[in-house]
Amino acid sequence: MLSEALKAKFDQVIARYPVKRSAIVPLLLFGQDEIGYISDELVEEIARRVEVRPIEVIEDISYYSMLHRQPIGKYNLQVCTNISCLLRGGEEILEHCRRRLGIDPKGTTPDGLFSLEEVECLGACCGAPAMQVNYEFYENLTPEKVDRLIEELRIRTANGHPR
Ligand code: FES
Repeated sequence: MLSEALKAKFDQVIARYPVKRSAIVPLLLFGQDEIGYISDELVEEIARRVEVRPIEVIEDISYYSMLHRQPIGKYNLQVCTNISCLLRGGEEILEHCRRRLGIDPKGTTPDGLFSLEEVECLGACCGAPAMQVNYEFYENLTPEKVDRLIEELRIRTANGHPR
């Protein structure tokens, strides 16, 4: 069941587009932010609202790596290993995250707090090696910075921070 706030947001977003189906990706992102992933119910709801078949929404989902059909961790660590990051230690950062969290890329910690992904260029090459966590960017990473960030995210959660 989608919240009233999310339904109102959907109405607002759809009204911005002359062609309703152009709103599919923003709707998916807002829905994913609320639910944590893209459920079948969410696909159906978006398809109904923008007047397309559910399969067309699913096709869009399959194109974008930031859209998830399965639940992922509260914090999704997306580590770039593309060329600039690769040259400045991106693979070491990914390996450090893997060891520190005890999960492989595409995995989620048993407590549901963290997921890990290896991703293509985040557009933050000047700050390589870089990582995106949900909608925030972290640049010029070192293993020590990653450790501090993971600890900070654990503390945020313990203090009841939503995401
Ligand atoms: S190569 Fe990593 S952000 Fe561009």
